[in-house]
Amino acid sequence: MKGIILAGGSGSRLAPLTNVVCKQLLPIYDKPLVYYPLSVLMLAGIREILIITTPRDKCAFEALFKDGAHLGLKISYQVQDKPRGIPEAFILGESFIDNKPVCLILGDNIFYGEGLPAYLKNLTSLQTGACLFGYYVKDPERYGVAEINDEGKVLSIEEKPKNPKSNYAITGLYFYDNQVVTLAKQLKPSKRGELEISDLNNEYLKQNNLHLEIMGRGMAWLDTGTHESLHDASKFVEVIESRQGLKIACIEEIAYRLKYISKAQYLQLIEEYPQSQYRAYLESLLTREFV
Ligand code: G1P
Repeated sequence: MKGIILAGGSGSRLAPLTNVVCKQLLPIYDKPLVYYPLSVLMLAGIREILIITTPRDKCAFEALFKDGAHLGLKISYQVQDKPRGIPEAFILGESFIDNKPVCLILGDNIFYGEGLPAYLKNLTSLQTGACLFGYYVKDPERYGVAEINDEGKVLSIEEKPKNPKSNYAITGLYFYDNQVVTLAKQLKPSKRGELEISDLNNEYLKQNNLHLEIMGRGMAWLDTGTHESLHDASKFVEVIESRQGLKIACIEEIAYRLKYISKAQYLQLIEEYPQSQYRAYLESLLTREFV
């Protein structure tokens, strides 16, 4: 399965922070925001990844991740010149997707929790339909919202409804079969002039080909859409990391632990790192038992 990280958008809600750099490159405590969604794809076992971003930010992402080989990944880049909506990722990524199933993660979504690898595990073998994640929130009107019956079947999906039919927000982590490019091309822009991911999901729902997995309350799905939530996400990561002495979304650690890279490559990667707390952490993993 291929993976796409969508890291476009104007980020205007976070101005002036985003005046010269995109939101997905802003820090969440000790690393750029985009490390978090990238780590989710890596934990899912997805190693061929396309990062879609703005013309302004493409160089910065390329400088950060290069071709991904040092992480045992194959990373490529694509520009979205204007924010035309999330489903455009599939149109822009058509040749990368190459008629295969694909996982899309929004570059500003943070997931954390013991159960995460288990949620992801079976989905990379998805061959038909779509799989989304629902997460109980107090303010569903800010998201795509799923109406669900007693058997857990999705009845409807609405984008940012004024009167949400449930508290289940649809997260920014989506798994689709190879119809996704064709379906995305058939979508029409919504009133706000963008292609809507909820419209795409409704196409799968019409086909009776949509599965919603509920992420339990023991998982954290963090928002980064406002200054407060961005700051809260940093604090969350700081609290957990300080308590455990283990990092969340340390992509080098994940590459090493999942054996995407050899020990020699890991040592090389450390060697190239500037002296920093982050490097000291990477070094410390060499003499620690695996947790
Ligand atoms: C987008 C989607 C929405 C989804 C959310 C998850 O909204 O349109 O359906 O629930 O991402 O982060 P946005 O954050 O772009 O407003």
